[in-house]
Amino acid sequence: MIPIKNKKEIEKIRQASHITSELLSMLEKEIRPGITTLELDRMAFNFIRRKGAEPAFKGYQGYPATICASINEVVVHGIPSSFKLKEGDIVSIDVGVCFNHYYGDATRTFAVGKISSEVSRLLEATKKSLDLGIKKMVVGNRLSDISYAIGSYAKNKGYSVVREFVGHGVGKELHEEPEIPNFGSPGQGPFLKSGMVFAIEPMVNIGKREIKILKDGWTVVTVDGKPSAHFEDTVLISKDGPEVLTYYG
Ligand code: MF3
Ligand code: CO
Repeated sequence: MIPIKNKKEIEKIRQASHITSELLSMLEKEIRPGITTLELDRMAFNFIRRKGAEPAFKGYQGYPATICASINEVVVHGIPSSFKLKEGDIVSIDVGVCFNHYYGDATRTFAVGKISSEVSRLLEATKKSLDLGIKKMVVGNRLSDISYAIGSYAKNKGYSVVREFVGHGVGKELHEEPEIPNFGSPGQGPFLKSGMVFAIEPMVNIGKREIKILKDGWTVVTVDGKPSAHFEDTVLISKDGPEVLTYYG
């Protein structure tokens, strides 16, 4: 069963999501050549604690850090390290925040200094695929309408979509039902209802879709070593349409 949240729950998810997006915009300002993802991780941890919240990822199935920082060919779940970001890199920062027992989850892929126009187009297309997926989060649509909107756009742009990782329900837990693939045909799966909250998160590759997990048990990379982008928002389905709870300008 896909959980339906009541007003009180939605308000708490909204608060957790607000902290999540504030955190991402704080981190965005810190990203430049020379900074390490471990430094970003420490800033994120301190920010979350100052807000009276908890990092949602730290300790989740043994994950060791506050953020996931996935550089270039790393798709998701990059563990922060003392490795310095350099001009031309991209870095996907994924953050989850728990506030008052409710969760927000969001990701942005940022450019480090100036990046190639080829990679810049990948970031734009991945963000656009997320936004097209969110547009389908309307009462009466079906779950796979979201998946189809995301996957068909990315594919038409000539990119490939990662299949092993998916979006998910979010709110009372970090991961709830349903799973939301970023590919597939439309018109299938459960009907969308007001009060559902989903984390929509396309992972899009410039090259082939195949991925592998490194020996650390977390880091997911593209097999062909080409760059991958990841954008994620926590979104409420309301009777007035989708509301992006992790919105930031
Ligand atoms: N946004 C990712 C997800 O929903 C982040 C999970 S990282 C983990 O799966 F450490 F919590 F696993
Ligand atoms: Co997520």
